[in-house]
Amino acid sequence: MENSRPAIQIHHKHCDELAFRQRRAASLKRNSTRTASGCRRTLDYWRPAGKANAEEGSSSRTQTALEPCFVAFQPKTAIMLEDQAPAQWRGCRHVRPEEALHWAAMPPLPLCTLTARELHHISSSTIGHYEQSAAAFWQGTKDHDVSQNVEAFLRHVRGAPPLALLDLGCGPGRDLAAFRARGHEPVGLDGAASFVAMARAHSGCEVWQQDLLRLDLPPRRFHGIFANAVLFHVPSQELPRVLGELRDALLTGGVLFASNPRGPDLEQWHGARYGTYLSWPRWRDSMTESGFEELEHYYRPEGRPRSEQPWLASVWRKRTSPDGPG
Ligand SMILES: C[S@@+](CC[C@H](N)C(=O)[O-])C[C@H]1O[C@@H](n2cnc3c(N)ncnc32)[C@H](O)[C@@H]1O
Repeated sequence: MENSRPAIQIHHKHCDELAFRQRRAASLKRNSTRTASGCRRTLDYWRPAGKANAEEGSSSRTQTALEPCFVAFQPKTAIMLEDQAPAQWRGCRHVRPEEALHWAAMPPLPLCTLTARELHHISSSTIGHYEQSAAAFWQGTKDHDVSQNVEAFLRHVRGAPPLALLDLGCGPGRDLAAFRARGHEPVGLDGAASFVAMARAHSGCEVWQQDLLRLDLPPRRFHGIFANAVLFHVPSQELPRVLGELRDALLTGGVLFASNPRGPDLEQWHGARYGTYLSWPRWRDSMTESGFEELEHYYRPEGRPRSEQPWLASVWRKRTSPDGPG
């Protein structure tokens, strides 16, 4: 059964260390900042001794007596920052809220609340990451088999080719080329200039350079929108707005496909990239509240146990009923 809060593994051998950190966490909690809406800010964490405290939009403190620290108190959950964790901790990633409550005595809080400046930073840093690794990304993903996703998307889009499709976050253009080869008229969209150029070259399609958080889409233009491995870069607080903009860009009865890495409803940095990792219930609610009805969902890669299927793919139709947006 799908659980909105997947269990994490805290190895027994770490329990003493956690108890120790619990005491530290309690004092850290008292020092954490609060946003205007009353939510605790993210990224209160201990850092390696002597490292700088400055982190945009966050408060952090140096704990000279501690080894490298990696516990972050995100709203609603506490996480271990994989990047900062010492090697022996890297297997332990997400701390269940219940577990965090136990050792950090923290109340559950919602997902992140971000300022306009933080949102801008999230976009530019994430896009910058892809920009810098554009050539390697193409080499590493051009042969990825996402035909399961392409098929799931196209079987729900009504009408015969050529259909107007938007490949949102198209990257270097692998799937644009696949849609075009099937006789459709896809348009690509990506924030990374290098990907836009590569996608045009690889597919021969029109490709727009836009930021997901500042979309400028024509209303009621597309039969379908394909968002493969991209919407998880949208912070949760912006998701309803972005999903609403995608809905508005769809024709009546239009279809939205999304595949995202799933998680226990948290968002965090991975290096220079920002990601939001939602459970199926939370993702389903976001889509439903944004005016979509579910067509199907499944987990990837195919044929593996659920614990080895990090990707959640789902297909949605723009709702036209009077009881919701659309
Ligand atoms: C994991 S890649 C997926 C690319 C492609 N859809 C695929 O399946 O290979 C994520 C894509 O989202 C784009 N992206 C990330 N954040 C973005 C933003 N704020 N605005 C526009 N594009 C963004 C990246 O440039 C990148 O192409």
